[in-house]
Amino acid sequence: MDQMINIALPKGRLGDQVYDMFEEAGFDCPAIREKSRKLVFENREAGVRFFWVKPVDVAIYVERGAADVGVVGRDIILETEPDVYELLDLGVGLCRMAVAAPAGFRDTQSRTLRVATKFSNIARSYYASMDRDIDIIHLNGSIELAPIMGLSDVIVDIVETGNTLRANKLEIVEFFASISARLIANKSAFRFKYEGIDAITQGLSEIVGARAEEDWMKEPEGEEQS
Ligand code: PRP
Repeated sequence: MDQMINIALPKGRLGDQVYDMFEEAGFDCPAIREKSRKLVFENREAGVRFFWVKPVDVAIYVERGAADVGVVGRDIILETEPDVYELLDLGVGLCRMAVAAPAGFRDTQSRTLRVATKFSNIARSYYASMDRDIDIIHLNGSIELAPIMGLSDVIVDIVETGNTLRANKLEIVEFFASISARLIANKSAFRFKYEGIDAITQGLSEIVGARAEEDWMKEPEGEEQS
């Protein structure tokens, strides 16, 4: 049986950050850093095989067992509710889920609220919890454009730096969920490849702990910090 651990990483900046953590934990695969169109990279000695996947597809690979573990944003987990184990909060890819609207927007509740989003399920359950009637307009990107062009009243989207909102003259109405990258595992792989998956989880957990401690040490202390 193939005891290599198959790892789905989200393509892009988050994936690069997360790969650094795997490398630091001893699960390196230097070829992955060579910029190429290759998608699969393995290090037989370390027992790992990485592959790059579109961030939104990571949980699908893991749920169906094509990957044993993967790294995915909590936004995708909340949206798609995959049947996987969530093993670890990696403490990177930090952002928040928010409702935003053009400056000065007031929800009068007098009519159905038009909500543009990539996260239809999250938006639906958020407004259901408030008993607010909404019309979901599902988009695949450039969500901030929707209220500007009159397609929606508000948006539900992730906010990291807030730059996209500011650049498009939108304001936060409410933050309602914290997001970060999570290590997830396929349920049966977690049993059958427990040793390998546990070694990865422990290794990454140490990195997360060490980084949290470093951040704590850097916390400003009264007058001493500029
Ligand atoms: C995401 C999100 C916001 C933006 C938030 O979009 O949908 O548009 O990032 O980041 P900020 O607060 O740092 O500006 P993404 O970059 O994934 O592009 P998209 O519009 O194609 O979804």
